[in-house]
Order: sequence, then C-alpha cells, then structure tokens
Amino acid sequence: MDGIRLIDLPKFLDARGNLSFIEGERHVPFHIARTYWIYDVPGGEVRGGHAYRKNREFIVALSGSFDVTLDDGKQRRVYSLNRSYTGLYVPEGIWRQMDNFSTNSLALVLASTGFDRSDYIYDYDEFVKTVSR
Ligand code: TYD
Repeated sequence: MDGIRLIDLPKFLDARGNLSFIEGERHVPFHIARTYWIYDVPGGEVRGGHAYRKNREFIVALSGSFDVTLDDGKQRRVYSLNRSYTGLYVPEGIWRQMDNFSTNSLALVLASTGFDRSDYIYDYDEFVKTVSR
C-alpha cells in the first residue's frame, strides 16, 4: 500500500466559519489537472470499482461521510472519510471502491490527469496481473 496516505489540509478556524484550501504540488503531491465531485449518491450505492494506470487522486469528504476501499493487489484497506480538512492520497495502480455514502455527502476528487477512459482498468483479475508484473 506504498504511497497511500491521509493528508491534513490547512484550516483556518474562525467564528464566521472555517476555511481550508488545497494547492497542487504543495498540499497534494501532483499537479491538479482535473477536479470532479460525487454527490446525491442514493443510499447503498457503490462508486468506483476500478483502478487507474496513470491517474493519481486526492479524495476529500467535503460534506458527510463515505468509505474508500483501496487494494494494491496484495492488501485491502478501508478508509472512512468524514472531515473536510483531511483527504486521502491514492497513487496510480490502486484498485478502489467508494461506498457507505451518508445522506447529502459530497466527495471532492482532485486528479493528476485529464479524463481518459483508456486509463481505467475495470477487470480485477487484469488489475492483479498488471500490478504483479
Ligand atoms: P466513473 O469513473 O465510472 O465513476 P465512478 O468511478 O465514481 O463510479 O464515471 C462516471 C461517468 O462520468 C463515466 O461515463 C465517465 C464520466 N466522467 C467524465 O466524463 N469525466 C470525469 O472526469 C469522470 C471522473 C467521469
């Protein structure tokens, strides 16, 4: 599970409310090429279920909570995200699934590459073969 880690973001706590921020190559270890977010996930739904060959990501539960299950082909670990100032860095070549979304949860994902369907590995057996090469 090399390289996977939780990263605490800066936070400015204020009587007016809190503020956090992310700068590419400073708070996350890559240039941010793309940002997307996952929201309005119906109860019980599962997102992901794939790996990326090259893309690296940073995932933050901006609101609510959800679980991210990561698998490097040898070990599997579940990260429960529920803070808007802590994110999960996921390097390339990691199988991932997101589930257990709470009502009104909002997942922010920063990505190191633009969207490229050919970067996805959707077949778990193919993924295991790729990482064991
Ligand atoms: P997908 O990656 O399958 O979502 P998840 O892994 O969370 O289950 O993406 C869902 C759809 O959105 C799919 O048709 C591809 C499209 N999409 C883009 O066009 N650009 C993007 O940056 C992302 C992440 C997805």
